[in-house]
Amino acid sequence: MLLKDKVCIVAGASSLRSIGYATAELFIKHGAHVVVTDVMMNDDVLNQIKFEIEKNLGVTIKIDGIQCDISKKSKCDRLIAQVQSKYGTIDCLVNSAGIVRSGPILDISEAELSLMFDINLKGAFYLCQSVLEVFVKQESGTIVNVASLAAQRGGGLVGGAHYAASKGGMLSLTKSIAREFGHLGIRANAICPAMIDTPMVDGLSPERLQSITDAIPLKRMGSTREMAGTCLYLASELSGFVTGATIDVNGGTHIH
Ligand SMILES: NC(=O)c1ccc[n+]([C@@H]2O[C@H](COP(=O)([O-])OP(=O)(O)OC[C@H]3O[C@@H](n4cnc5c(N)ncnc54)[C@H](O)[C@@H]3O)[C@@H](O)[C@H]2O)c1
Repeated sequence: MLLKDKVCIVAGASSLRSIGYATAELFIKHGAHVVVTDVMMNDDVLNQIKFEIEKNLGVTIKIDGIQCDISKKSKCDRLIAQVQSKYGTIDCLVNSAGIVRSGPILDISEAELSLMFDINLKGAFYLCQSVLEVFVKQESGTIVNVASLAAQRGGGLVGGAHYAASKGGMLSLTKSIAREFGHLGIRANAICPAMIDTPMVDGLSPERLQSITDAIPLKRMGSTREMAGTCLYLASELSGFVTGATIDVNGGTHIH
């Protein structure tokens, strides 16, 4: 049990096929109290998540679900306050919420750019700011930000430049948090996944998908369980001396 009794918030977990869902399930398996949050969260979604985790783990579980649009600072503050008041502490935030859009740079409208930055970058910033208020008081806490390979290579697989730029900002944010709060024992790390089998890659044609996977050294897409494993490593004491890091989970797509 790597997260026994740890209070963990997982953002971006409404789909049973998401990285966030798989992370919530693995964290619960490792003894964590998990709060799943998403703009799409509601009682039905939470019940589905609970049902699926109980089926997979073969035990009755407790899990909280809170609806939150992370692009709104006040909503992020309210989410963190709710979790803090219920549990008295928060040990970990995994931010896996986000959107992806593709398209050439010159076709990206102001509205599309704003939406992308509001959710992927400002949303991550707000969530981190809100949870850091708690982490600073307790002098502990871990943040795992799910960025993207697009941040490292400049889009080109699924996301456009606005997506890549938003995730690049997330990497910089993560490093800044690691630098500014390390002296308090607070850690922040980022993961750069690529081609993980989730709803996010559903828009690709079979031909495009095949040509992308052909170019991956491991010759397949990654699974959400493999992403969850990396989140578990970064959330737990297994990675106690790791902060400000960017971990590649891409099957060797980008070896650098
Ligand atoms: N799947 C991949 O290959 C891949 C590759 C690189 C990066 N990522 C990143 O992984 C993360 C998880 O994506 P996924 O693949 O599990 O897809 P997903 O679409 O299942 O998960 C993203 C979740 O974010 C939620 N969300 C969107 N806007 C939100 C908002 N304003 N507030 C709160 N929640 C919001 C969505 O409802 C969704 O449940 C994303 O940040 C994505 O950019 C995924």
